[in-house]
Amino acid sequence: MALILGIESSCDETAAAVIDGNGTTLAARIVAQRIASQDEEHRPYGGVVPEIAARAHVEVLGPMIEAVLADAGLGLDDVDAIAATAGPGLIGGVMVGLITAKALAMAADKPLVAVNHLEGHALSPRLADPALAYPYLLLLVSGGHCQILEVAGVGQYRRLATTIDDALGEAFDKTAKILGLGYPGGPAVERLAREGNPKAVPLPRPLVGSGEPHFSFAGLKSAVMRAKDAGVHADADIAASFQQAALDCVVDRTRIALGAASPGMTALVVAGGVAANAALRGALEALAQGHGLPLVAPPPKLCTDNAAMIGWAGAERFALGYTDPLDVAARPRWPLDDNAAPVRGAGVKA
Ligand code: KG4
Ligand code: ZN
Repeated sequence: MALILGIESSCDETAAAVIDGNGTTLAARIVAQRIASQDEEHRPYGGVVPEIAARAHVEVLGPMIEAVLADAGLGLDDVDAIAATAGPGLIGGVMVGLITAKALAMAADKPLVAVNHLEGHALSPRLADPALAYPYLLLLVSGGHCQILEVAGVGQYRRLATTIDDALGEAFDKTAKILGLGYPGGPAVERLAREGNPKAVPLPRPLVGSGEPHFSFAGLKSAVMRAKDAGVHADADIAASFQQAALDCVVDRTRIALGAASPGMTALVVAGGVAANAALRGALEALAQGHGLPLVAPPPKLCTDNAAMIGWAGAERFALGYTDPLDVAARPRWPLDDNAAPVRGAGVKA
């Protein structure tokens, strides 16, 4: 393991971090990290505008890398490799980070590690919890992804479940938009839900009870829209009822996946932006306990997009001898499990 410069630019956070792969605690592993959110730029549009995102990454990333190296008291010559998100994500932003990493790698004659953003999320629990061993069952819930995977090692993923329409974070963001809570929506829905009654509004639990652990949230979103349009419910009650319905779905689907998983899982692990949600963590904690497994969830700041997780995934890859050529391509789509079969009904959005 080694000192790794990590770069993240796949969505609306520009981030850079220096990771010490030899660190034995979270504090020792993250030597320095910086993150700049583009929330203000995107807020007027109610969502991420790809062109604005790419431009903002260009403006911020260079000075940020200089600053994070200065925070760490290091020069570029001191790092052992440069790791950057190479996909999946908004392609303009991914290219900004990857090209920057390539230029630095060439200038300083350092190896490049092209990191799958989803692998960053998937391995982030190991960054946070040095005791977490492979294999583990991972619930990966972010704005763009909603999957359950067996993580058997670096690059070794078996997908057990995916969403046939919206991701869980997307459902939170759309509910926030319907309730006029602005962008980004997940944390705002969670805050408002605390003041509401989760039983006040009857809402559907799509796919609950089905034998395969897949997800669907489009019908729930439409029901939230109808509940708001009806004009009879308090927004806090809608938020609380939505969150409860969504969590009921997640817990039911994860229970099915636990039953379908290979023997020997060491933990139930949750990662990705929505893993920052305290109600979700509480519900999963109870589920994991019932299966005799610990629940491992990174601290909320490591759940949403950041460069520490990219640097850490880079450190794990680099330790295994995986580096990438300087002509490695940025990828808008990049599944963790290339062998996963398409799911019936997938792609149908309501
Ligand atoms: O992982 P992430 O930062 O970016 C992607 O790779 O998508 O995840 C962002 C998603 C957004 O949909 C955001 O609304 C959601 O995570 N999120 C939350 C919370 N914090 C972030 N959803 C529910 N509750 C939260 N506390
Ligand atoms: Zn992400």
